[in-house]
Amino acid sequence: MGSVSLKIGDGTARFRRATVCSSAVNILMILSVVTTNLFALYSFSSSPKHPHTHLHLLHKNFSLISEQVSLILREIDMSQKELAQIERDLLGYESLDLSRPNIANELKLFLRPHQLPLGRDSKTGITQMVSSVAHSCDKSSDLLSQYMTYNLFQRCPDDWSMAQKLILKGCEPLPRRRCFAKTISKVGLLHPFPNSLWEAPLNSTVNWSGLSCKSFECLKDRKLSRDCIACFDLINGYENHRFLKSKSKNDFLVDDVLALGSGGIRIGLDVGGGSGSFAAVMAQRNVTVVTSTLNLDAPFSEFIAARGLFPLFLSLDHRFPFYDNVFDLVRARSSLDGGARPEKLEFFMFDIDRVLRAGGLFWLDNFCCSDEEKKRELTRLIERFGYKNLKWVVGEKPDSLGSGNTQIVLSAVLQKPVRV
Ligand SMILES: *[C@@H]1O[C@H](CO)[C@@H](O)[C@H](O)[C@H]1NC(C)=O
Ligand SMILES: *[C@@H]1O[C@H](CO)[C@@H](O)[C@H](O)[C@H]1NC(C)=O
Ligand SMILES: *[C@@H]1O[C@H](CO)[C@@H](O)[C@H](O)[C@H]1NC(C)=O
Ligand SMILES: *[C@@H]1O[C@H](CO)[C@@H](O)[C@H](O)[C@H]1NC(C)=O
Repeated sequence: MGSVSLKIGDGTARFRRATVCSSAVNILMILSVVTTNLFALYSFSSSPKHPHTHLHLLHKNFSLISEQVSLILREIDMSQKELAQIERDLLGYESLDLSRPNIANELKLFLRPHQLPLGRDSKTGITQMVSSVAHSCDKSSDLLSQYMTYNLFQRCPDDWSMAQKLILKGCEPLPRRRCFAKTISKVGLLHPFPNSLWEAPLNSTVNWSGLSCKSFECLKDRKLSRDCIACFDLINGYENHRFLKSKSKNDFLVDDVLALGSGGIRIGLDVGGGSGSFAAVMAQRNVTVVTSTLNLDAPFSEFIAARGLFPLFLSLDHRFPFYDNVFDLVRARSSLDGGARPEKLEFFMFDIDRVLRAGGLFWLDNFCCSDEEKKRELTRLIERFGYKNLKWVVGEKPDSLGSGNTQIVLSAVLQKPVRV
């Protein structure tokens, strides 16, 4: 008796962290098991009231009770498993089950924990190194296994778009692989810095496989997103005037914003920064900016890199891979309004707040809200961060993607307070 297993989940250790909910379930279960055991103990100790009872009868009653108890315990165990399943269903996640059939062996190898060669590390207390993939990878485990199926030490399959698809499904970070990613020779093809900032990269610096366009000419007048209207055209059009000449009162000029930073702006993060022109303008002002981007329908990463700038291949849902308080400036131009869930936007704003240093600037550049209510929500949220309002302009303009709708856009420069 008492052989109830209280273990929840049977996935890899990496994903076994119980959530608050399942911890509560656990505690409840432990309590009921303890109560049941106490009750059983009480039955045992209080039953021999008549000292003359035959031993075998007593034994019989013992096994009867014991049977009852284990029945109850089995019941509890089952309802506990059911509860855990309900919780997993609610969250939409199982833990990654590597024992399932069709899981690529490379994935198992990558995720296998490695004992530290010298045993427990006295500083951190860890005893093993664990590699990780996102728990959401489980929802796309077939695709992930396909991604992890390749020939060792050979060229990787031409599957960058599959990798990006996985990322967009929340499978971020992806596992590492032991194959060679496709390469293209850029020797002698890249323009020297700083000319590279505004010279169109050569077609041949990009492997166009898997993209609908096969040259930068083709990308030139594409409206790829609200942040990228013809943003691959560095010569004609607006891209080379952005941040220097404004088209509307919501377009702040980069020098005005820098002046608000009173000379203390040296490094910045551009969230969803299109083809990197903000980083280019800033580079000309000796400010180093990292541009986060994915390769949605176009080689954004290659393009930014060819300009001599730093592309960060990361979805907007991922925690920024930077330590707290490091950036002097964060610019976000995004249509991210979190849909129906305000929490999504809150997580995003808190992460921006985290990486920005006190006194640093948060530039919301044409941050758009689908309607007035969304704008009010955003405003209320910003107020709660206690930033100093250096510039604040709300405007209305037609959707740049040409949907025919008007959009409410907020442009603001806010200064992060020192919180003590
Ligand atoms: C065993 O159980 C029976 C009824 O199930 C009861 O009459 C009897 O007193 C019990 N004996 C002991 C020793 O508890
Ligand atoms: C682009 O990548 C694919 C897949 O790796 C490869 O087959 C092709 O030869 C590459 N193209 C160029 C121009 O290198
Ligand atoms: C890129 O390719 C397009 C179409 O193939 C061509 O018209 C253009 O001249 C090329 N540009 C450069 C810079 O190589
Ligand atoms: C950038 O730095 C260089 C080298 O220190 C300097 O000559 C130049 O004036 C600086 N440019 C600006 C815009 O501050």
